[in-house]
Amino acid sequence: MEYMIEMKDVVKKFKNVYALDGLNLNVEKGGILGLLGHNGAGKTTILRTILGLYKPDSGDVRVFGKNPEYDISLRGRTGVLCEDSGLYESLTLYENLVFFAKVYRMKKEDYDARIDYFLEEFSISDKKNLPVKGFSAGMKKKTAIIRTLMHNPDLVLLDEPTNALDPVSIDKFHGIVQKMSREDGTSFIITTHNLDEVKKICSDISIIKQGKCLYNQNLKDTRELYDMFETVIECVDGNKITLKTTDPKAVAKAIRELVEGGADICEARRNEFDLEKLYLSLAKE
Ligand SMILES: Nc1ncnc2c1ncn2[C@@H]1O[C@H](COP(=O)(O)OP(=O)(O)O)[C@@H](O)[C@H]1O
Ligand SMILES: [Mg+2]
Repeated sequence: MEYMIEMKDVVKKFKNVYALDGLNLNVEKGGILGLLGHNGAGKTTILRTILGLYKPDSGDVRVFGKNPEYDISLRGRTGVLCEDSGLYESLTLYENLVFFAKVYRMKKEDYDARIDYFLEEFSISDKKNLPVKGFSAGMKKKTAIIRTLMHNPDLVLLDEPTNALDPVSIDKFHGIVQKMSREDGTSFIITTHNLDEVKKICSDISIIKQGKCLYNQNLKDTRELYDMFETVIECVDGNKITLKTTDPKAVAKAIRELVEGGADICEARRNEFDLEKLYLSLAKE
């Protein structure tokens, strides 16, 4: 397995607060990891540690196989979107993007094409030459997302990227993330409070609590997920049978046996992977 990020037993203390307390986390090439957790769980600290901005007190951090504290070349291969958009208010949208394109040493023909592509995707081509100062929160967020993605980074860290975006833009953004993951093998870490977003685009989830990874699951590995949730089979006479699985073959077999046994089945409900239920139950512990 080729990991873009490996964090092993990472501890990061601020005075007497353990922001990370033995954290383990991996992201594979092309993986889209959704980081979930309450405020103060340690999500932003994870991102800052991956960027080499925080030095762990102990444990091991590898990004592209290297130590981010010492290897600043990693920064050129990474795109970062923080909570604060980091744009220059007095510059136009285009000037902002060109400024960052130059930081990333992109050639004009490359960045112009990329910028136009993203402006078109986010339907803000008409805002290209307007100063960012007058932009709505959503428009600033789109500009910051373009800044984060335009140099085609191998790794993208996004701290709550879809706050302030409208549903159409969120959908566009999800499409772009999935396309980059699939076609370019770009790896993503996305912190979010939006569980639907995680279900829709993430390949993996990690639930963080008090600096530890409480739960880690590959969402493609559906077989395990089948056994985490239930199927409720309901009969005409009101009797209900609950199966502790959502595995389609097991459910089909149960229905066949019930019908052969004379039951009149009127409904079989499958509780889909219920991330919200899982998150709430883990967060309570
Ligand atoms: N620079 C810092 N100085 C002191 N404490 C910090 C610093 N950064 C984070 N913390 C503390 O570490 C914990 C985790 O914070 P953070 O990573 O920002 O959480 P999240 O992003 O999940 O909301 C919190 O208790 C926070 O107060
Ligand atoms: Mg945070």
